[in-house]
Amino acid sequence: MIKLIDTHAHYDDEAYDEDRDILLKKLFEESVEKIITVGCALDRWEDTIKLTESCEGIYGAVGIHPEDICGLPDDYLRQIEELAKKPKIVALGEMGLDYHYENYDREMQIKVFTEQLRLADRLNMPVIIHSRDAAQDTMRILHSEKPKKAVMHCFSGSRETAAEVLGLGLYISFTGVLTFKNAKKAVEACEAVPMDRLMLETDCPYMAPVPYRGERCDSSMILSTAAKMAEIKGVSTEEMIEICNKNAKVFFGI
Ligand code: NI
Repeated sequence: MIKLIDTHAHYDDEAYDEDRDILLKKLFEESVEKIITVGCALDRWEDTIKLTESCEGIYGAVGIHPEDICGLPDDYLRQIEELAKKPKIVALGEMGLDYHYENYDREMQIKVFTEQLRLADRLNMPVIIHSRDAAQDTMRILHSEKPKKAVMHCFSGSRETAAEVLGLGLYISFTGVLTFKNAKKAVEACEAVPMDRLMLETDCPYMAPVPYRGERCDSSMILSTAAKMAEIKGVSTEEMIEICNKNAKVFFGI
């Protein structure tokens, strides 16, 4: 079986503290080719770098997640820029807007998202975008900032939003959500994404696909999401993985 590329994982998460090294070793031996581990907050980036240095197949992304904007130091962009020079940091993110929980600071989220998009543009780095319950503002910002190379991660929006995202030249990446019973919208959106703009991810430790739903997720479970995507697109699972791997390599330059 062809090996998997997980374009979005969080192996710095405490969910892996007990067995991180053993798990990663097993994943690379058995089923995984490459992983992008995403560092979402200032105090996580050191772990992101360590992970990329500990394992040949692990690459990293650094950015400020919209839920982690509290208490940002003035020089956070300079810190990202410094880390982006490291050879295995291949993208900025995840960044974006998240209006899911109450008491979010909309103005601040927009500011931090826009600043990071501009930095990525200046550094010519691909961008990983997070958008939850904030499609309208996210799209407005993307229309005005026009990122050169970006992926909408953990996509669960409508077919219409997908079309708009594609119109801006973005990639669309799906997690295990695609396999959920109530994921009709995501399935319809996936149908509409051209083969050369699709990517696969876990967003682990969250979002484990069926039949692992509710369990701690890891990169091997991408196989279930790939099988579902293959079914939607009418190709074999192997072929689907091959296509998504190729897209990931082009997108991240890995
Ligand atoms: Ni994530």
